Amino acid sequence: MALKIIDHGSKEYQQMVKLRNDILRKPLGMTLDPEELEKEKNEILIGAFEEEKMLGCCMLVSIDPRICRLRQMAVLNTLQGKGIGRALMIFAENIARDRGFKLITMHARKSAAGFYERLGYRICGDEFKELTIEHYVMEKGL
Ligand SMILES: CC(C)(COP(=O)(O)OP(=O)(O)OC[C@H]1O[C@@H](n2cnc3c(N)ncnc32)[C@H](O)[C@@H]1OP(=O)(O)O)[C@@H](O)C(=O)NCCC(=O)NCCS
Repeated sequence: MALKIIDHGSKEYQQMVKLRNDILRKPLGMTLDPEELEKEKNEILIGAFEEEKMLGCCMLVSIDPRICRLRQMAVLNTLQGKGIGRALMIFAENIARDRGFKLITMHARKSAAGFYERLGYRICGDEFKELTIEHYVMEKGL
């Protein structure tokens, strides 16, 4: 498996959008809209690949020079539970550290909180609803 940063608008980015729609949005009866995607031009977009095929993805958004936000973490349904998510997180954390960020924060789905806790993230505050489902703010110092 190869982990890499991908370019907005590239062929890999089109795969990423499809993966995010399939895993994160369609189950909620939603799709990513073009305006939302346009805003991602300056974000750090990350993919896990087997040859040409994207297996999983996530992105990092700069909040300020110290803090970045992890978003859109997803692994293909048929390949979940095999360590791809963990590998993506470790790769993303290393990139965040290299770029000088000191903290990663996120809105984590409640159903995935256990995954992030295993990687050292902690829940901050009460659960809240976003896109119709329960979330927690979770964070980890780098
Ligand atoms: C959540 C998700 C990204 C995890 O990726 P993954 O490749 O399946 O996870 P891994 O195989 O790397 O799991 C790492 C560890 O976390 C555990 N884990 C994985 N998903 C978990 C979950 N939802 N809840 C609790 N623990 C979980 C694994 O059992 C494994 O434990 P171990 O340390 O004992 O080996 C993936 O399952 C996914 O895409 N889910 C659907 C979309 C989603 O919820 N995304 C997150 C939005 S915030």
